[in-house]
Formats: sequence, structure tokens, C-alpha cells
Amino acid sequence: MTDTISTIHGRISAQHFDSSKQLSTDEIRALVKEATEAPSSFNIQHWRFIAVTDTAKKQALTAASYGQAKVSEAAVTFIILGDLEGHTKLKGILDQSIDAGLLPREIAEQWVQMANGMYGSSAAFARDEAIRSASLAAMTLMLAAKARGLVSGPMIGFDPAQVKEIFGISEQYIPVMLLPVGYPAAGNTSRKPRLQVEEVLSFNESRQF
Ligand SMILES: Cc1cc2nc3c(=O)[nH]c(=O)nc-3n(C[C@H](O)[C@H](O)[C@H](O)COP(=O)(O)O)c2cc1C
Repeated sequence: MTDTISTIHGRISAQHFDSSKQLSTDEIRALVKEATEAPSSFNIQHWRFIAVTDTAKKQALTAASYGQAKVSEAAVTFIILGDLEGHTKLKGILDQSIDAGLLPREIAEQWVQMANGMYGSSAAFARDEAIRSASLAAMTLMLAAKARGLVSGPMIGFDPAQVKEIFGISEQYIPVMLLPVGYPAAGNTSRKPRLQVEEVLSFNESRQF
């Protein structure tokens, strides 16, 4: 197996983190850099990250997460946000690809028009896309953490309104996931069994799975 496949099979959703082991800000930056290598629609990159490392902030976030202790025990808990207005930054993003010789200017202009049409006219579509992008970044971050000898634990068990209030998150952003990341403590279980491939795969047509 390649390193990547081993990393995929080796990742667990951890419940227990070693609270005595911290991550440096450079290590946290490196994880986020790796997360941002994920793909996104038009390369809009709707993901944003709040790295919660401060003890008091972690405690407040734990309370907003129905007391889930891993939020405080992990070296860092990321609040992964999706930008609901990500498409409004697309022109500047595509200018970088134009400058790098990766994208013709006329195509970039068409993409900006398309993105504005798709996401500017439908708040639901813009929200779906923000969640999709942020989720891809979250998965990439989990794999990067595993490859670096860390564990992670994706979480949707939190009150988004409370999280927004505690961290001053504006209406432009949706909290998509919490992601504690750090060194493991004893007591984590191994990976949970998955549905069989036959139960989730169909070739060439849909079916009642
Ligand atoms: C979007 C999402 C939300 C989750 N929310 C929570 C949570 O709030 N608390 C928790 O303990 N686990 C949570 N989990 C972890 C899942 O229970 C776990 O990923 C699943 O059981 C598979 O475990 P494994 O990755 O170790 O095989 C969440 C996972 C995902 C992907």
C-alpha cells in the first residue's frame, strides 16, 4: 500500500487526546497549509479556520459542544468555517492563475460570470458549496494530521449560534465542523466498521441502495 492508502486506513475519529502535548503555531500553520491543498469549485476556497488553543476559549467551546471534553484536551480545536460569499472573491483568485499562465483571461471572466450566476442567485447553493469546500478541507486536514502522527476527531455536536457568539463569527460564515487535533491519549478505539462496498456502490445507474 502507498503511504496515502495507509494513512486513509489508519485514521480514526479520536475521543481521547493527550492534553499535556501542545502544537506550535508553525505546526498548526503547516496543517492548515496542507488542508488548503484541497480542491474547491472554481478554486474559490470557501474554507476558513479558527485555531482554538487558548485554555479559556477551549473551555467556552467545550460548553458550546455539549461538554465534549476532546475540544479542550486536544492541542488545537479548529472551527472550520465556510464562506457564504466566497464567490465574490473569485476574480482576485483567478487573477493569480492568469498571472501563473494557468488560465486564459477570457475563461476566467466566463468563470466569474458563471459563479456569480450560480451562487449569487441562490443562497442555498452558496451555502451548499461553502459546506462542500470546507468539508473537503476538513478531510484533507484529518489525513495531514494522521500523516504527521497526530489524531483528529470531526464534530458536528455543537451549538452553531453559541459558537458564533463566543468567537464573534459574522453572518458571512457558517461553522461547518469542529476538528480537535493533537496527540492521542490512551483509550481510543480503532476504526469503526464500514458498510460493504456492495451496499454503497452501483455502476452506471442509480438503485435503491
Ligand atoms: C461530520 C461529522 C460529525 C461528527 N460529529 C461528532 C461529534 O459531535 N462527536 C463525536 O464524538 N463524534 C463525531 N463524529 C465522529 C463519527 O462518529 C466517526 O467519524 C464515525 O463513527 C467513524 O469513526 P472512525 O472514523 O473512527 O472510523 C463526527 C463525524 C463527522 C464526519
